[in-house]
Amino acid sequence: MGNSNKLIVANWKCYPETAAQAKALAKDSDWSDVVIAPSTSFLGIVKLVLRKSALAAQNCYWTEGAFTGEVSPKQLKSLGVTYVIIGHSERRQFFGDTDLIINKKIKAVIAAGLQPILCVGESWLIRKEGLPAAKSFIANQLSQDLKGASNLKRKLIVVYEPIWAISPKGRVDRPADAVLMLGFIKDFLNSKLGIKNPRVLYGGSVTSRNAADFLALGEIDGLLVGGASRNAADFKKIIRLRNGK
Ligand code: PGA
Repeated sequence: MGNSNKLIVANWKCYPETAAQAKALAKDSDWSDVVIAPSTSFLGIVKLVLRKSALAAQNCYWTEGAFTGEVSPKQLKSLGVTYVIIGHSERRQFFGDTDLIINKKIKAVIAAGLQPILCVGESWLIRKEGLPAAKSFIANQLSQDLKGASNLKRKLIVVYEPIWAISPKGRVDRPADAVLMLGFIKDFLNSKLGIKNPRVLYGGSVTSRNAADFLALGEIDGLLVGGASRNAADFKKIIRLRNGK
């Protein structure tokens, strides 16, 4: 299998600082089979620029109502968003997104006709204990986050993002090890949760220097890129590698 159908998700996190910078970055990052996830504030302006890439939100709440500061899946949909990243480790770590909350968000995203991109990943404390410990942690996350949420219209997208591999402090995972975890995730979704043929992406310190190593592996259905997606030249190189150029 070639790399061309592998999905690349650009997670800009809480960057850049201005709308003009977001607009410029979006212009340089507009490729097919690419999903751009700007901060909520720049969704509108990025949508105006994109011709080929799809638009993603980095988070959402699960309903409209008297919830100051939140944004609902339906509101995102009306902005032209098609994907929503749910359960990123930074949300879990800094904003109290528990598995129960993530499960509610996943269901709301599906109900609104949007496509969730579920992030799972273990801490270094767990990984230090070995692969079996990491696998059982991830199995638990998947079971809880996806409870009652198998009514997906499209293939489920899961990103395996070991927390310890996320930049800037991250140590890069070895592609061969990442594949072991991805294989486990696919088997688990298939056999335990009845979710057939999920797309499972890898994320964590992927740059233009190591992207080819991950993309070369058939089990990896794509990449979620953080830091390197905010550097237009670096991102372009990653897309070229994905496109086999
Ligand atoms: P990174 O971020 O590529 O900068 O490690 C990935 C992510 O956390 O989404």
